[in-house]
Amino acid sequence: MELTEIAEIEIDILLDAIRRRYDYDFSHYARSSLKRRITGLLIKEKLDMPYQLIPRILYDEQVFNRFLSELSVTVTEMYRDPEFFLGLVESIFPVLDTYPYFKIWHAGCATGEEAYSLAILLKEAGLLNRAKIYATDYNNKSLDIAKKGLYNAGNIEANNKSYLKAGGKQCFSDYYTKQYDAIKFDDELRNTITFAYHNLVKDGVFGEMNLIICRNVFIYFDNELQNDVLRLFNESIINKGFLCLGNKETIRFSILKDKYDPLSERNSIYRKKY
Ligand SMILES: C[S@@+](CC[C@H](N)C(=O)[O-])C[C@H]1O[C@@H](n2cnc3c(N)ncnc32)[C@H](O)[C@@H]1O
Repeated sequence: MELTEIAEIEIDILLDAIRRRYDYDFSHYARSSLKRRITGLLIKEKLDMPYQLIPRILYDEQVFNRFLSELSVTVTEMYRDPEFFLGLVESIFPVLDTYPYFKIWHAGCATGEEAYSLAILLKEAGLLNRAKIYATDYNNKSLDIAKKGLYNAGNIEANNKSYLKAGGKQCFSDYYTKQYDAIKFDDELRNTITFAYHNLVKDGVFGEMNLIICRNVFIYFDNELQNDVLRLFNESIINKGFLCLGNKETIRFSILKDKYDPLSERNSIYRKKY
């Protein structure tokens, strides 16, 4: 048996140990990216083979937390893919405007920039006071940052450019106060968003959502897990509600392909048929 095949067995045993010890199931994460993350952790922990991680993770929760951080790629930014946000404003906001009250779920929100980006655009459209936004992730460290609404001021120029490209009508600086080298979003925005723990692999439905946004999360899942999560989203979205995925993600080959109309394939914006 090749060394690489043996390493695969070690990874399977490691994942089983994590599932039994910490109730996190990574068995349906895309294998190639999972292997890259495990290799990254091995380097950081100064270890050679995946089996060496097993006792460390089983007996030391800190090592598991480092594993979780390595696996949950928290890369995000304000108005990531501004064109997508413009698509939201143009194709979904007019429909949201017909409801007296509506609910939005950002699943896999990381450190929250995406949720604040949307809240600002809703405010400018006069829709924020009718919105309830839930933003969830399974990484508590990221959620702590999101709840504070405190971000590095170094990115402001880039953020402002993306905000304008996304259809922002005022000035990005209207929505935060500067605190030394950080910016803090206004209470009105922070109070509209509820940041909460939710693990897409095992936790349940979020009811009666008008819109679910889950971008750049499916790329880490295999087909089976993608379909399981799409089933969960489908149960959570009201009739004629909307689903948005990342630009590299699609429902075209999934169990939902006949249940949703594509409003924009390029921006992965879909509408539930009934
Ligand atoms: C690359 S970030 C995407 C952030 C944001 N949606 C964006 O597009 O900028 C992926 C996020 O998915 C989260 N994630 C991965 N697996 C998850 C799971 N099973 N349940 C909830 N969140 C998960 C990670 O913690 C991470 O914050």
